[in-house]
Amino acid sequence: MNRNKLVIVGVGHVGSAVLNCALAFQLASEIVLIDTDGEKAAGEALDTSHGTPFAYYSPNIDVHDGDYEECRDADVIIIAAGPSIMPGEKPDRLVLADRNVKTIREVMSSIVRYTQEAVIIIITNPLDVISYCAQNFFGYPKEKILGTGTTLETARLRRILANHYSVDPKDVQGYMLGEHGNSAFPAWSLVSVAGIAYDKLDAYFQPAKPLDTAAVGRQVVQVAYDVLSFKGCTNSGIAVVACRIARAVLSNEGSIFPVSTTLEGEYGLSRVSLSLPCQIGAGGVKRRLAVPLTAEETEKLRQSAASISQVLRNTGL
Ligand code: 2OP
Repeated sequence: MNRNKLVIVGVGHVGSAVLNCALAFQLASEIVLIDTDGEKAAGEALDTSHGTPFAYYSPNIDVHDGDYEECRDADVIIIAAGPSIMPGEKPDRLVLADRNVKTIREVMSSIVRYTQEAVIIIITNPLDVISYCAQNFFGYPKEKILGTGTTLETARLRRILANHYSVDPKDVQGYMLGEHGNSAFPAWSLVSVAGIAYDKLDAYFQPAKPLDTAAVGRQVVQVAYDVLSFKGCTNSGIAVVACRIARAVLSNEGSIFPVSTTLEGEYGLSRVSLSLPCQIGAGGVKRRLAVPLTAEETEKLRQSAASISQVLRNTGL
């Protein structure tokens, strides 16, 4: 195993799922858990150690609690701190902005005391607002901070299309773009299976029902709230997403994921973070791809940007 160090900040439902997934992926030889509730972090580390006699990952992965000084030699830091939306709350991640901007300010101020080297992967919602804050106000190299963004919606889109056509979701290409949240949209012009464009898939795969693109777009956004109301939180999907992106960093893969970065004029947009396909490697974001979009998709991207910008303004960012 590579000698990598991963720090997870926030070990609630999401952070602890990230821990389990990082172990399963054998992402790192050392994993440090940081939480405002130090006993919670210590408890997670201790509980995890009790799985090692029977686990299929290396029993020598060093999992322990710690403080921000541990970031000094970290390779990747995954931030899952701050509350999530609760069942019964307004179904919009943007309502968390005030609370979690305060959280990310505390977390980033602590991290920058010890490092500017680690790649930081943000999960905390509202994802794009929190990513924008972390990327722009702490003097940290921007390419080293990315939000998981619509990689999670993309996974949901690929799963839904894979079910529809009875194929492996890994063979579905294409992206959800924009906000990680209610204004995320499928860039249908980029969606394909085995190189076959989305509007030709029904003819090839003969599904039980024709593809209803508008309904699928709505379903991708809605399923997060379905999970939330069924089990009280979402954590399994996002944990795999964050760890998969972390592996792209740690293995310098150059793989492409739609992650949240601060735009610099793409599609006429700036001073906002949202998800576009980005190439991810050792230093974080190697390249942001301003992929060709239709006029309708570009308009949806602009609407998504407007909705995030409104919240950035309301929270004083
Ligand atoms: C999710 O989409 C709630 O952002 C979280 O699963």
